[in-house]
Amino acid sequence: MSENRDGANGTVDSHGQSTRISNGTLRLGMIGLGLAGAGMLPAVFEDSRFKLTAVADPNPLLRERFAKDHDCRVFDSAEALMEGDCVDAVYIATPHQLHCEHVVLAATHGVHAVVEKPMALTLEDCDRMRDAVDRAGTVLIVGHTHSFDPAVLAIRDIIRSGSVGRLAIISMINYTDFLYRPRRPEELDTSKGGGILFNQIPHQVDTIRLLAGSDVTSVRAASHVLDPARPTEGCCTAFLEFSDGTAATLTYSGYDHFDSDEFHEWVGENGQPKKPSHGSTRQKLGVFSSSREEAEARTTRLGYGGRPMNPATDEKWFQPHFGTLIVTCEHADIRQTKDGIRVYRNDGSEEVIIPCASTRPGRSKVLDELYDAVVHGIAPVHNGVFGRGTLEACLAILESSRSHAEVRLGNGLGEQA
Ligand SMILES: NC(=O)c1ccc[n+]([C@@H]2O[C@H](COP(=O)([O-])OP(=O)(O)OC[C@H]3O[C@@H](n4cnc5c(N)ncnc54)[C@H](O)[C@@H]3O)[C@@H](O)[C@H]2O)c1
Repeated sequence: MSENRDGANGTVDSHGQSTRISNGTLRLGMIGLGLAGAGMLPAVFEDSRFKLTAVADPNPLLRERFAKDHDCRVFDSAEALMEGDCVDAVYIATPHQLHCEHVVLAATHGVHAVVEKPMALTLEDCDRMRDAVDRAGTVLIVGHTHSFDPAVLAIRDIIRSGSVGRLAIISMINYTDFLYRPRRPEELDTSKGGGILFNQIPHQVDTIRLLAGSDVTSVRAASHVLDPARPTEGCCTAFLEFSDGTAATLTYSGYDHFDSDEFHEWVGENGQPKKPSHGSTRQKLGVFSSSREEAEARTTRLGYGGRPMNPATDEKWFQPHFGTLIVTCEHADIRQTKDGIRVYRNDGSEEVIIPCASTRPGRSKVLDELYDAVVHGIAPVHNGVFGRGTLEACLAILESSRSHAEVRLGNGLGEQA
Protein backbone atom coordinates (compact mmCIF):
# COMPACT_ATOMS: atom_id res chain seq x y z
CA MET A 1 0.00 0.00 0.00
CA SER A 2 1.46 3.35 -0.89
CA GLU A 3 1.60 6.19 1.57
CA ASN A 4 -0.71 8.61 -0.19
CA ARG A 5 -0.81 12.21 0.93
CA ASP A 6 -4.59 12.19 0.95
CA GLY A 7 -4.62 9.10 3.13
CA ALA A 8 -6.38 7.00 0.51
CA ASN A 9 -5.45 3.35 0.16
CA GLY A 10 -2.93 2.49 -2.48
CA THR A 11 -2.16 -1.05 -3.50
CA VAL A 12 0.70 -3.29 -2.65
CA ASP A 13 0.20 -5.42 -5.71
CA SER A 14 0.72 -2.67 -8.26
CA HIS A 15 4.29 -2.31 -6.93
CA GLY A 16 4.95 -6.01 -6.63
CA GLN A 17 5.41 -5.93 -2.86
CA SER A 18 2.78 -8.43 -1.80
CA THR A 19 4.15 -11.10 -4.08
CA ARG A 20 7.31 -11.27 -1.95
CA ILE A 21 5.37 -12.09 1.20
CA SER A 22 4.94 -15.82 1.59
CA ASN A 23 2.45 -17.53 3.95
CA GLY A 24 1.40 -14.17 5.34
CA THR A 25 4.72 -13.89 7.20
CA LEU A 26 6.63 -10.63 6.86
CA ARG A 27 10.42 -10.84 6.80
CA LEU A 28 11.58 -8.02 9.03
CA GLY A 29 15.00 -6.40 9.34
CA MET A 30 16.15 -4.34 12.32
CA ILE A 31 18.47 -1.46 11.50
CA GLY A 32 20.15 -0.33 14.72
CA LEU A 33 20.61 -2.61 17.73
CA GLY A 34 20.77 0.18 20.30
CA LEU A 35 18.21 1.05 22.97
CA ALA A 36 15.22 1.43 20.63
CA GLY A 37 16.06 -1.51 18.37
CA ALA A 38 16.71 -3.86 21.27
CA GLY A 39 13.54 -2.59 22.99
CA MET A 40 11.43 -3.47 19.96
CA LEU A 41 12.78 -7.00 19.43
CA PRO A 42 10.73 -8.81 22.13
CA ALA A 43 7.52 -7.66 20.43
CA VAL A 44 8.85 -8.93 17.08
CA PHE A 45 9.86 -12.32 18.53
CA GLU A 46 6.47 -12.90 20.12
CA ASP A 47 4.54 -12.01 16.94
CA SER A 48 4.17 -14.99 14.61
CA ARG A 49 3.22 -12.74 11.67
CA PHE A 50 6.85 -11.55 11.54
CA LYS A 51 10.14 -13.35 11.11
CA LEU A 52 13.27 -11.42 11.97
CA THR A 53 15.56 -12.27 9.06
CA ALA A 54 18.31 -9.64 9.32
CA VAL A 55 19.81 -7.01 11.56
CA ALA A 56 22.37 -4.28 10.85
CA ASP A 57 24.57 -2.21 13.11
CA PRO A 58 28.10 -0.82 12.63
CA ASN A 59 28.89 -1.56 16.29
CA PRO A 60 30.78 -4.91 16.51
CA LEU A 61 29.92 -5.47 20.19
CA LEU A 62 26.17 -5.32 19.51
CA ARG A 63 26.51 -7.50 16.40
CA GLU A 64 28.49 -10.11 18.34
CA ARG A 65 26.01 -10.19 21.21
CA PHE A 66 23.12 -10.57 18.81
CA ALA A 67 24.78 -13.27 16.67
CA LYS A 68 25.41 -15.38 19.79
CA ASP A 69 21.71 -15.38 20.60
CA HIS A 70 20.04 -15.70 17.20
CA ASP A 71 20.23 -17.56 13.94
CA CYS A 72 19.68 -14.57 11.71
CA ARG A 73 21.71 -12.64 9.13
CA VAL A 74 23.84 -9.91 10.67
CA PHE A 75 25.20 -6.98 8.63
CA ASP A 76 27.49 -4.10 9.51
CA SER A 77 25.51 -1.51 7.54
CA ALA A 78 21.99 -0.73 6.41
CA GLU A 79 23.18 -0.76 2.80
CA ALA A 80 24.57 -4.30 3.10
CA LEU A 81 21.30 -5.47 4.69
CA MET A 82 19.32 -4.05 1.79
CA GLU A 83 21.64 -5.64 -0.76
CA GLY A 84 21.10 -8.97 1.03
CA ASP A 85 17.56 -9.03 -0.37
CA CYS A 86 16.20 -10.83 2.70
CA VAL A 87 13.57 -8.43 4.12
CA ASP A 88 10.09 -7.22 3.21
CA ALA A 89 10.14 -4.47 5.82
CA VAL A 90 12.64 -2.82 8.15
CA TYR A 91 12.37 -1.22 11.55
CA ILE A 92 14.70 1.79 11.52
CA ALA A 93 16.08 2.46 15.00
CA THR A 94 19.12 4.54 14.10
CA PRO A 95 19.95 8.02 15.43
CA HIS A 96 17.53 10.75 14.23
CA GLN A 97 19.94 12.28 11.70
CA LEU A 98 20.01 8.98 9.77
CA HIS A 99 16.24 8.44 9.58
CA CYS A 100 15.80 10.20 6.24
CA GLU A 101 18.75 8.38 4.62
CA HIS A 102 17.54 4.99 5.86
CA VAL A 103 13.89 5.45 4.87
CA VAL A 104 14.93 6.59 1.39
CA LEU A 105 17.31 3.58 1.17
CA ALA A 106 14.51 1.19 2.11
CA ALA A 107 12.08 2.73 -0.35
CA THR A 108 14.66 2.56 -3.12
CA HIS A 109 14.83 -1.20 -2.52
CA GLY A 110 11.04 -1.53 -2.44
CA VAL A 111 11.13 -2.30 1.29
CA HIS A 112 8.44 -1.08 3.72
CA ALA A 113 9.63 0.81 6.80
CA VAL A 114 8.80 1.76 10.34
CA VAL A 115 11.00 4.65 11.41
CA GLU A 116 11.51 5.66 15.02
CA LYS A 117 10.42 9.05 16.28
CA PRO A 118 11.13 11.82 15.55
CA MET A 119 10.48 11.18 11.87
CA ALA A 120 13.44 13.46 11.00
CA LEU A 121 15.04 16.69 12.19
CA THR A 122 13.61 18.94 9.46
CA LEU A 123 10.35 19.17 7.53
CA GLU A 124 12.38 19.08 4.31
CA ASP A 125 13.73 15.65 5.25
CA CYS A 126 10.18 14.49 6.07
CA ASP A 127 9.15 15.56 2.57
CA ARG A 128 12.07 13.67 1.02
CA MET A 129 11.02 10.54 2.91
CA ARG A 130 7.41 10.87 1.85
CA ASP A 131 8.37 11.48 -1.78
CA ALA A 132 10.59 8.38 -1.76
CA VAL A 133 7.90 6.06 -0.34
CA ASP A 134 5.25 7.57 -2.61
CA ARG A 135 7.45 6.88 -5.62
CA ALA A 136 8.23 3.34 -4.45
CA GLY A 137 4.67 2.58 -3.36
CA THR A 138 5.92 1.28 -0.01
CA VAL A 139 4.45 1.72 3.46
CA LEU A 140 5.98 4.17 5.92
CA ILE A 141 5.01 4.21 9.59
CA VAL A 142 6.47 6.57 12.19
CA GLY A 143 6.66 4.87 15.56
CA HIS A 144 6.94 3.83 18.26
CA THR A 145 5.39 6.60 20.33
CA HIS A 146 3.02 6.34 23.27
CA SER A 147 0.14 7.22 20.95
CA PHE A 148 0.23 3.47 20.15
CA ASP A 149 -0.50 2.60 23.80
CA PRO A 150 -3.67 0.48 24.06
CA ALA A 151 -5.08 2.90 26.67
CA VAL A 152 -4.65 5.87 24.34
CA LEU A 153 -6.34 3.96 21.51
CA ALA A 154 -9.18 3.03 23.90
CA ILE A 155 -9.70 6.70 24.83
CA ARG A 156 -9.68 7.64 21.15
CA ASP A 157 -12.33 4.99 20.43
CA ILE A 158 -14.60 6.31 23.21
CA ILE A 159 -14.25 9.89 21.94
CA ARG A 160 -14.99 8.77 18.39
CA SER A 161 -18.01 6.76 19.51
CA GLY A 162 -19.69 10.05 20.48
CA SER A 163 -20.85 8.64 23.85
CA VAL A 164 -18.98 11.28 25.87
CA GLY A 165 -19.85 14.26 23.67
CA ARG A 166 -17.45 16.83 22.30
CA LEU A 167 -13.75 16.67 23.21
CA ALA A 168 -12.70 19.95 24.85
CA ILE A 169 -9.37 19.65 26.68
CA ILE A 170 -6.43 17.22 26.82
CA SER A 171 -3.87 17.41 29.58
CA MET A 172 -0.55 15.53 29.74
CA ILE A 173 2.11 15.74 32.45
CA ASN A 174 5.32 13.73 32.73
CA TYR A 175 8.27 14.13 35.12
CA THR A 176 11.23 11.75 34.55
CA ASP A 177 15.00 11.28 34.79
CA PHE A 178 15.39 11.64 31.00
CA LEU A 179 18.25 14.15 30.93
CA TYR A 180 20.50 12.15 33.24
CA ARG A 181 20.36 8.83 31.46
CA PRO A 182 23.70 8.12 29.71
CA ARG A 183 23.80 10.07 26.42
CA ARG A 184 25.65 10.36 23.15
CA PRO A 185 27.07 13.95 22.80
CA GLU A 186 24.56 14.95 20.09
CA GLU A 187 21.69 14.02 22.42
CA LEU A 188 22.64 17.02 24.55
CA ASP A 189 22.78 19.43 21.58
CA THR A 190 19.40 20.79 20.44
CA SER A 191 20.76 21.73 16.99
CA LYS A 192 21.51 18.02 16.44
CA GLY A 193 18.17 16.75 17.70
CA GLY A 194 19.08 16.56 21.38
CA GLY A 195 16.96 17.32 24.41
CA ILE A 196 13.35 16.66 25.24
CA LEU A 197 11.86 18.60 22.31
CA PHE A 198 12.98 16.01 19.75
CA ASN A 199 12.99 12.97 22.02
CA GLN A 200 10.18 13.12 24.57
CA ILE A 201 7.73 15.81 23.48
CA PRO A 202 6.94 13.83 20.26
CA HIS A 203 5.29 11.18 22.49
CA GLN A 204 2.98 13.82 23.97
CA VAL A 205 2.33 15.64 20.69
CA ASP A 206 1.56 12.37 18.87
CA THR A 207 -0.85 11.39 21.64
CA ILE A 208 -2.79 14.64 21.75
CA ARG A 209 -2.91 14.80 17.93
CA LEU A 210 -4.23 11.25 17.76
CA LEU A 211 -6.93 12.03 20.33
CA ALA A 212 -7.89 15.43 18.93
CA GLY A 213 -8.15 14.19 15.37
CA SER A 214 -7.85 17.65 13.80
CA ASP A 215 -5.01 20.03 12.86
CA VAL A 216 -2.85 21.92 15.35
CA THR A 217 -3.42 25.59 14.52
CA SER A 218 -1.67 27.42 17.34
CA VAL A 219 1.25 26.76 19.68
CA ARG A 220 2.55 28.78 22.63
CA ALA A 221 5.32 27.22 24.66
CA ALA A 222 8.10 27.82 27.15
CA SER A 223 11.06 25.52 27.57
CA HIS A 224 14.20 25.80 29.65
CA VAL A 225 17.80 24.64 29.90
CA LEU A 226 18.22 24.36 33.67
CA ASP A 227 21.55 22.52 33.86
CA PRO A 228 24.55 24.03 32.01
CA ALA A 229 26.29 20.63 32.18
CA ARG A 230 23.45 19.15 30.06
CA PRO A 231 23.01 22.18 27.72
CA THR A 232 19.74 21.30 25.98
CA GLU A 233 16.07 21.78 26.81
CA GLY A 234 15.15 19.60 29.77
CA CYS A 235 11.71 20.95 30.67
CA CYS A 236 8.85 22.41 28.71
CA THR A 237 5.24 23.43 28.98
CA ALA A 238 3.07 24.11 25.93
CA PHE A 239 -0.47 25.10 25.00
CA LEU A 240 -1.78 23.85 21.67
CA GLU A 241 -5.07 24.62 19.96
CA PHE A 242 -6.69 22.56 17.23
CA SER A 243 -8.84 23.66 14.29
CA ASP A 244 -12.00 22.26 15.90
CA GLY A 245 -11.47 24.26 19.12
CA THR A 246 -9.95 21.41 21.18
CA ALA A 247 -7.13 22.67 23.44
CA ALA A 248 -4.26 20.72 24.96
CA THR A 249 -1.57 21.40 27.51
CA LEU A 250 1.55 19.35 27.88
CA THR A 251 4.23 19.57 30.54
CA TYR A 252 7.45 17.58 30.63
CA SER A 253 10.47 17.71 32.88
CA GLY A 254 13.43 15.34 32.66
CA TYR A 255 15.52 16.71 35.55
CA ASP A 256 15.29 13.65 37.82
CA HIS A 257 13.74 15.48 40.73
CA PHE A 258 10.03 14.58 40.87
CA ASP A 259 9.03 11.29 39.17
CA SER A 260 5.40 11.40 38.04
CA ASP A 261 5.20 7.60 38.12
CA GLU A 262 4.36 8.33 41.77
CA PHE A 263 0.95 9.39 40.39
CA HIS A 264 0.74 6.10 38.47
CA GLU A 265 1.04 3.68 41.40
CA TRP A 266 4.77 3.24 40.61
CA VAL A 267 4.25 1.64 37.23
CA GLY A 268 6.94 2.74 34.75
CA GLU A 269 6.67 3.96 31.16
CA ASN A 270 6.71 0.47 29.62
CA GLY A 271 4.26 -0.94 32.14
CA GLN A 272 6.95 -2.35 34.42
CA PRO A 273 6.54 -2.26 38.20
CA LYS A 274 9.18 0.06 39.69
CA LYS A 275 10.42 1.31 43.03
CA PRO A 276 10.94 4.97 43.92
CA SER A 277 14.63 5.81 43.41
CA HIS A 278 14.71 9.56 43.80
CA GLY A 279 17.75 11.23 42.15
CA SER A 280 19.56 7.94 41.51
CA THR A 281 19.95 8.42 37.74
CA ARG A 282 21.75 11.75 38.28
CA GLN A 283 24.00 10.16 40.90
CA LYS A 284 24.97 7.23 38.67
CA LEU A 285 26.04 9.67 35.94
CA GLY A 286 28.75 10.96 38.27
CA VAL A 287 30.90 7.88 37.63
CA PHE A 288 31.76 8.91 34.06
CA SER A 289 34.90 10.98 33.63
CA SER A 290 34.22 11.99 30.00
CA SER A 291 31.41 12.26 27.48
CA ARG A 292 33.10 9.45 25.53
CA GLU A 293 32.94 7.13 28.54
CA GLU A 294 29.28 8.09 29.01
CA ALA A 295 28.43 7.33 25.36
CA GLU A 296 30.25 3.99 25.50
CA ALA A 297 28.38 3.01 28.66
CA ARG A 298 25.12 3.96 26.96
CA THR A 299 25.81 1.45 24.18
CA THR A 300 27.13 -1.30 26.47
CA ARG A 301 24.33 -1.04 29.01
CA LEU A 302 21.34 -0.01 26.92
CA GLY A 303 22.14 -1.54 23.54
CA TYR A 304 21.29 -5.14 22.59
CA GLY A 305 22.23 -7.62 25.33
CA GLY A 306 22.94 -4.92 27.90
CA ARG A 307 19.84 -5.52 29.98
CA PRO A 308 17.02 -8.05 30.13
CA MET A 309 14.65 -7.64 27.20
CA ASN A 310 11.65 -9.35 28.76
CA PRO A 311 10.09 -9.04 32.19
CA ALA A 312 10.85 -11.85 34.65
CA THR A 313 8.21 -14.54 34.17
CA ASP A 314 6.75 -14.13 37.67
CA GLU A 315 6.41 -10.38 37.29
CA LYS A 316 3.06 -8.82 36.37
CA TRP A 317 3.44 -5.90 33.98
CA PHE A 318 0.80 -3.24 33.43
CA GLN A 319 -0.22 -0.96 30.60
CA PRO A 320 2.48 1.33 29.15
CA HIS A 321 1.97 5.07 29.65
CA PHE A 322 3.68 8.42 29.28
CA GLY A 323 2.79 10.12 32.54
CA THR A 324 -0.60 11.49 33.44
CA LEU A 325 -3.16 11.77 30.66
CA ILE A 326 -6.62 13.25 31.28
CA VAL A 327 -9.17 14.27 28.68
CA THR A 328 -12.24 16.39 29.28
CA CYS A 329 -15.28 15.86 27.10
CA GLU A 330 -18.80 17.30 27.22
CA HIS A 331 -20.21 14.42 29.30
CA ALA A 332 -17.15 12.83 30.94
CA ASP A 333 -13.52 13.07 31.99
CA ILE A 334 -11.31 10.11 31.08
CA ARG A 335 -7.89 9.31 32.50
CA GLN A 336 -5.31 6.60 31.94
CA THR A 337 -4.79 4.12 34.79
CA LYS A 338 -2.17 1.44 35.32
CA ASP A 339 -4.57 -1.25 34.04
CA GLY A 340 -6.44 0.71 31.41
CA ILE A 341 -8.63 3.80 31.61
CA ARG A 342 -11.22 5.27 34.02
CA VAL A 343 -14.28 7.13 32.72
CA TYR A 344 -15.90 9.68 35.07
CA ARG A 345 -19.50 10.49 34.09
CA ASN A 346 -22.28 12.44 35.89
CA ASP A 347 -23.47 9.33 37.71
CA GLY A 348 -20.15 7.81 38.78
CA SER A 349 -16.96 6.38 37.38
CA GLU A 350 -16.02 3.09 35.79
CA GLU A 351 -12.60 1.55 35.09
CA VAL A 352 -12.17 -0.18 31.77
CA ILE A 353 -9.50 -2.85 32.20
CA ILE A 354 -7.37 -3.56 29.14
CA PRO A 355 -6.00 -7.11 29.29
CA CYS A 356 -2.19 -7.27 28.98
CA ALA A 357 -2.08 -9.84 26.20
CA SER A 358 1.52 -9.10 25.24
CA THR A 359 4.70 -8.24 27.12
CA ARG A 360 5.01 -5.14 24.94
CA PRO A 361 1.45 -3.87 24.42
CA GLY A 362 2.34 -0.49 22.85
CA ARG A 363 5.06 -1.88 20.64
CA SER A 364 2.92 -4.74 19.34
CA LYS A 365 0.45 -2.10 18.08
CA VAL A 366 3.19 -0.71 15.82
CA LEU A 367 3.55 -4.16 14.31
CA ASP A 368 -0.24 -4.41 13.91
CA GLU A 369 -0.25 -1.16 11.95
CA LEU A 370 2.65 -2.30 9.75
CA TYR A 371 1.14 -5.71 9.07
CA ASP A 372 -2.34 -4.33 8.38
CA ALA A 373 -0.94 -1.78 5.94
CA VAL A 374 1.35 -4.16 4.03
CA VAL A 375 -0.79 -7.29 3.98
CA HIS A 376 -4.36 -5.99 4.23
CA GLY A 377 -3.96 -2.60 2.56
CA ILE A 378 -5.34 -0.69 5.56
CA ALA A 379 -4.11 2.92 5.59
CA PRO A 380 -1.84 3.42 8.62
CA VAL A 381 -2.72 6.21 11.05
CA HIS A 382 0.92 6.92 11.91
CA ASN A 383 2.02 7.48 8.32
CA GLY A 384 4.48 10.07 6.99
CA VAL A 385 1.81 12.79 6.97
CA PHE A 386 1.12 12.16 10.65
CA GLY A 387 4.83 11.95 11.55
CA ARG A 388 5.53 15.21 9.73
CA GLY A 389 2.65 16.93 11.53
CA THR A 390 4.10 15.92 14.89
CA LEU A 391 7.56 17.20 13.96
CA GLU A 392 5.99 20.46 12.73
CA ALA A 393 4.29 20.95 16.12
CA CYS A 394 7.53 20.10 17.99
CA LEU A 395 9.47 22.62 15.89
CA ALA A 396 6.72 25.18 16.63
CA ILE A 397 7.16 24.49 20.36
CA LEU A 398 10.89 25.19 20.00
CA GLU A 399 10.24 28.35 17.98
CA SER A 400 7.62 29.66 20.40
CA SER A 401 9.93 28.98 23.36
CA ARG A 402 12.64 31.05 21.69
CA SER A 403 10.45 33.89 20.39
CA HIS A 404 8.14 34.02 23.45
CA ALA A 405 5.29 34.34 20.96
CA GLU A 406 2.47 32.27 19.57
CA VAL A 407 3.28 30.22 16.45
CA ARG A 408 0.37 29.71 14.07
CA LEU A 409 0.25 26.60 11.92
CA GLY A 410 -2.17 26.03 9.12
CA ASN A 411 -0.55 25.27 5.82
CA GLY A 412 -2.42 21.99 5.82
CA LEU A 413 0.70 19.82 5.75
CA GLY A 414 0.40 19.02 9.43
CA GLU A 415 -3.08 17.67 8.95
CA GLN A 416 -3.89 14.09 9.74
CA ALA A 417 -4.56 11.49 7.16
N1 LIG B 1 10.13 4.91 20.83
C1 LIG B 1 10.89 4.89 21.88
O1 LIG B 1 10.43 4.63 22.98
C2 LIG B 1 12.36 5.19 21.71
C3 LIG B 1 13.25 4.94 22.75
C4 LIG B 1 14.59 5.22 22.52
C5 LIG B 1 15.00 5.74 21.30
N2 LIG B 1 14.09 5.98 20.33
C6 LIG B 1 14.50 6.50 19.02
O2 LIG B 1 15.27 5.50 18.34
C7 LIG B 1 16.33 6.09 17.62
C8 LIG B 1 17.64 5.47 18.11
O3 LIG B 1 17.82 5.82 19.47
P1 LIG B 1 18.54 4.84 20.48
O4 LIG B 1 18.27 5.39 21.84
O5 LIG B 1 18.24 3.44 20.19
O6 LIG B 1 20.06 5.14 20.10
P2 LIG B 1 21.28 4.16 20.32
O7 LIG B 1 22.50 4.96 20.18
O8 LIG B 1 21.07 3.35 21.55
O9 LIG B 1 21.14 3.15 19.09
C9 LIG B 1 21.34 3.54 17.77
C10 LIG B 1 22.02 2.37 17.07
O10 LIG B 1 22.11 2.68 15.69
C11 LIG B 1 23.36 2.19 15.23
N3 LIG B 1 23.74 2.87 13.99
C12 LIG B 1 24.38 4.04 13.84
N4 LIG B 1 24.58 4.29 12.54
C13 LIG B 1 24.03 3.25 11.86
C14 LIG B 1 23.95 2.93 10.48
N5 LIG B 1 24.43 3.75 9.54
N6 LIG B 1 23.34 1.75 10.13
C15 LIG B 1 22.85 0.93 11.08
N7 LIG B 1 22.90 1.20 12.41
C16 LIG B 1 23.49 2.34 12.79
C17 LIG B 1 24.31 2.48 16.37
O11 LIG B 1 25.50 1.72 16.32
C18 LIG B 1 23.45 2.14 17.57
O12 LIG B 1 23.61 0.81 17.98
C19 LIG B 1 16.26 7.59 17.88
O13 LIG B 1 15.67 8.23 16.79
C20 LIG B 1 15.38 7.72 19.11
O14 LIG B 1 14.57 8.88 19.12
C21 LIG B 1 12.80 5.70 20.52
